[in-house]
Amino acid sequence: MVPAGSLPAPTHVIAHLSDVHLLAGDALLHGHIDTVSQLHKTLARVEQSAQHFDALVLSGDLTDRGQPEAYTLLREIVDAVGERLRVPIVMTGGNHDERRALALGLYGIDTDEPQDGVTLVRGLRIISMDSALPGFHHGGFSDAQYDWLSTQLARPAEHGTILVMHHPPIRYHSPMMQLLDFEDVTRLRAALEGTDVRAILSGHLHVTSFGTLGTIPVFVAGGVSYVDDAGAPRELLVGVDGPQSWNLIEVHPDDVVGTVVPVEQHKSWPAISETVLEHIASLPKDQRRTVFSTKR
Ligand SMILES: [Fe+2]
Ligand SMILES: [Fe+2]
Repeated sequence: MVPAGSLPAPTHVIAHLSDVHLLAGDALLHGHIDTVSQLHKTLARVEQSAQHFDALVLSGDLTDRGQPEAYTLLREIVDAVGERLRVPIVMTGGNHDERRALALGLYGIDTDEPQDGVTLVRGLRIISMDSALPGFHHGGFSDAQYDWLSTQLARPAEHGTILVMHHPPIRYHSPMMQLLDFEDVTRLRAALEGTDVRAILSGHLHVTSFGTLGTIPVFVAGGVSYVDDAGAPRELLVGVDGPQSWNLIEVHPDDVVGTVVPVEQHKSWPAISETVLEHIASLPKDQRRTVFSTKR
């Protein structure tokens, strides 16, 4: 469908999912969540959105317990979608992942090294970095990772860079989650200053959140498996099955925009009738705003 507005389409669109916490077999996460069906449901919504995508990003906590068979299953599921959408899949580890199992299950490599990588999509560089510190739930990068990042960013990309990391480098609303934050935000901020990083995509909080690192926007996807009830008293962490979501990230030449998409399909109806849509589309571009915006 031809867009009714007159603004140019984004240069790149990313489907950003996080915190799949995949469990192999029939196990239910926290005794409540079928993580395999949640992932299928989310990816079906991504495909149903009929949007052209340039990449599918999963920002960590790919599995809940680092089971080797969970990574194999994840690879199978996301690769099928990636082939249909014809997009690269960008994945990074989170605190619930295990590096060796992740490297073996996703990439067939036997190593404990973080699987950091660069994906270039028509001039947009997506850098994914494992922010999980082995043995801990809080996050950080090693000296070697900072060195690697600086080397990558030494030369700018045509459309700039999107950095994917599980632990968002912002202040967390939840006092409990503050204990599990990214440990050296100041160092990361300095490392990114003056580079072409245009946005950071994260997860971990299980609550859709937004913040900034210096001047760089940070988009936190709310979680595919379950979310925390942001309306519950602040000191608690309360799991909810219902408002899971993913973020649709649109990259424009001079800004980056995030839209939250619910995983669950609720009762719906056409908010604007097809007749109106057709009428607006039939108007010259410079009249559409006046006709549609004028109060009657
Ligand atoms: Fe998580
Ligand atoms: Fe996490």
